[in-house]
Amino acid sequence: MALHSLMFSLLTVLLVLARTEPVLCDFTSIFSFGDSIADTGNLLCLKSDDHSFRFPYGETYFGHPTGRCSNGRLIVDFMAQSLGLPLLPPYLAQTNGQDFQQGANFAVSGATALDNAFYEERGIHNICTNNSLGIQLGWFKELLPSLCDQSSNCLNFFSRSLFLVGEIGGNDYNHAFLEGRSLEEIRTFVPGVIDAISSAVQMVVEHGAVTVMVPGNFPIGCFSSYLMVFQSSNEEDYDPQTGCLRWLNEFSMNHNHLLQKELDRMRDLHPHVSIIYADYYNAAMRFFRYPLQFGFSEGCLTACCGGGGPYNYNKSLVCGNRGARVCDDPSLYVSWDGMHLTEAAYKAIAYYILQGFKDIPDSSHQYLTFITSKELLQNT
Ligand SMILES: *[C@@H]1O[C@H](CO)[C@@H](O)[C@H](O)[C@H]1NC(C)=O
Ligand SMILES: *[C@@H]1O[C@H](CO)[C@@H](O)[C@H](O)[C@H]1NC(C)=O
Repeated sequence: MALHSLMFSLLTVLLVLARTEPVLCDFTSIFSFGDSIADTGNLLCLKSDDHSFRFPYGETYFGHPTGRCSNGRLIVDFMAQSLGLPLLPPYLAQTNGQDFQQGANFAVSGATALDNAFYEERGIHNICTNNSLGIQLGWFKELLPSLCDQSSNCLNFFSRSLFLVGEIGGNDYNHAFLEGRSLEEIRTFVPGVIDAISSAVQMVVEHGAVTVMVPGNFPIGCFSSYLMVFQSSNEEDYDPQTGCLRWLNEFSMNHNHLLQKELDRMRDLHPHVSIIYADYYNAAMRFFRYPLQFGFSEGCLTACCGGGGPYNYNKSLVCGNRGARVCDDPSLYVSWDGMHLTEAAYKAIAYYILQGFKDIPDSSHQYLTFITSKELLQNT
């Protein structure tokens, strides 16, 4: 089944390439929207305190916390480095005179695809942020006049930009799941979430985006936080090979399936745009299935940093809080804090996504720039 999905995504990429005009230039900028999977410091500008603003967050690569929810770099950081671009500046950290000619990151930890009002009406409170995807798109529009001249060169400018819309949607479900809402209720959110993502793609395309990468959701049934909260005495609930909770992974797969169907529809509407599905789910499942092949000798289900217990995840004692313990070597772990992955895991995912383009015939220079980048070559 994994092979099947892999071939399917490769086929999807081939199909996309077959019907789009390649843009024969390097990417010169990245614009990113999303949540804590991609936030490089926006929440840090919005809140005075959060456990993720404290040590040991950031310890491995930066040596100090940066607002990233990991011990080091995120997928978007590896993409930027692979393209020879600087790490994406968080939009809200904008200092006087800073320009965002090489891109900007609008992702905010805790953000949902749907607006807060949708959840407030249902009594689900986002304690982290109210900066949904819609708000982030508003920031992008605010930034536009400083990036390019609308009447002439915006299309040219964005033809050399990579747009990353997501991962987003994970929190639309996380908050509700962790508040104990029923699977039936949460399932009803999915079509709206997919619509919100699709509208975001539509909006960036209307502004001139021609390369839009849209990641799917992770296999949340393999995440320490979910494994802890939904611990079950029924063996049938677990996948025997990975120890992951099957029903939660099925939930993610369903979201991803509907998202891909919607992206197919978008490709028909915009045949000149490369709309790429980034398969975070299967990229991550590779190491949940074969952890040792990826060097994750401490396994995949226990968090490196947390408050103890069978998965080292305790929601009343999370990473960054006094009393939480951190492992000696995060590179041996997949899970960083139970909700987010380690830099090592993000790196493996980023390279999987980038390598997906390796077998593509020499049809589009923009894809080749992904794999000829220095860092990637050093790692293969
Ligand atoms: C969003 O949250 C901030 C602070 O958390 C608050 O000041 C602001 O009014 C909120 N905005 C909306 C639209 O709820
Ligand atoms: C989780 O942390 C709280 C607060 O420190 C503690 O009281 C509780 O016993 C912990 N739970 C487990 C399962 O370790």
